[in-house]
Amino acid sequence: MVQIIVAPHAGFCFGVKRAINIAEQSSDLSRQGRKVFTMGPLIHNPQEVDRLRSQGVELLISEDSLKRGDTVIIRSHGIPPQKERHLRALGINVIDATCPYVKAVHEAVMKLSKEGYFVVLVGEKNHPEVIGTLGYLQEVGGKGVVVENRDDLKAVLSKDKVGIVAQTTQNEHFFKEVVGEIVLWAKEVKVINTICNATSERQEDVYELAPHVDVMIVIGGKNSGNTRRLYEISKNLNPKSYHIETAQELCGEWFEGTKKIGITAGASTPDWIIREVVEKIEKMCFSKV
Ligand code: F3S
Repeated sequence: MVQIIVAPHAGFCFGVKRAINIAEQSSDLSRQGRKVFTMGPLIHNPQEVDRLRSQGVELLISEDSLKRGDTVIIRSHGIPPQKERHLRALGINVIDATCPYVKAVHEAVMKLSKEGYFVVLVGEKNHPEVIGTLGYLQEVGGKGVVVENRDDLKAVLSKDKVGIVAQTTQNEHFFKEVVGEIVLWAKEVKVINTICNATSERQEDVYELAPHVDVMIVIGGKNSGNTRRLYEISKNLNPKSYHIETAQELCGEWFEGTKKIGITAGASTPDWIIREVVEKIEKMCFSKV
């Protein structure tokens, strides 16, 4: 008998649920004939983005197409404050769905900077959350660097007073590594752990589940940072790990001779996609019994 175990924290996190609710409420404006856009995909999940589009909440392709009175929803990743001001100055109705945990990173970098720390933001340089956070650092005239890999630490070597924060979805192990390195040379280090619980809970699920199953399925957008990290962790622990976006990508061969299958999903994966994956695996495995 094949056992399918879904990780306890698989799927939508608090911040994504909140952003989706805000977008759904804003779709009322679209029914009144107003244009409603999200600044970038609301979540890294193309299927859910399509569902919202069907409710009149569109993805903003070009800022040039915006007109006075249009509504723009800031997604959970947040945006630089300079950009938000620019939109408001154009007469755009801005609705802020930035996750409160991301807001906490903005506060943290500004606080550290005001206290005189050189800020190290452990995260992905091109991630929208990181770009938004750097905007807040710039807002207070702060100095800092994004550390994405060990090479980036060279820029911190000459700093004595270092404040460290993380992108909310950062891998905890890499964050610890960076902190462990910097304390070896900096005279004063202040760490504000801004990794959100949703991320650590999902990562801990993978550490617990992946080594004990025959196959591990990680569901989530291919461009979702937090899903990709779940997949990387899983692949290290269990070579038979697969990253899929939808049930259509499942392949029967993956489950040949398996007894235990683990499933997890990134924080931007809707429950309905997780259900479809479970149902399809059940059909694939149980139809052979
Ligand atoms: Fe917020 Fe954490 Fe989700 S930062 S958007 S609750 S992954």
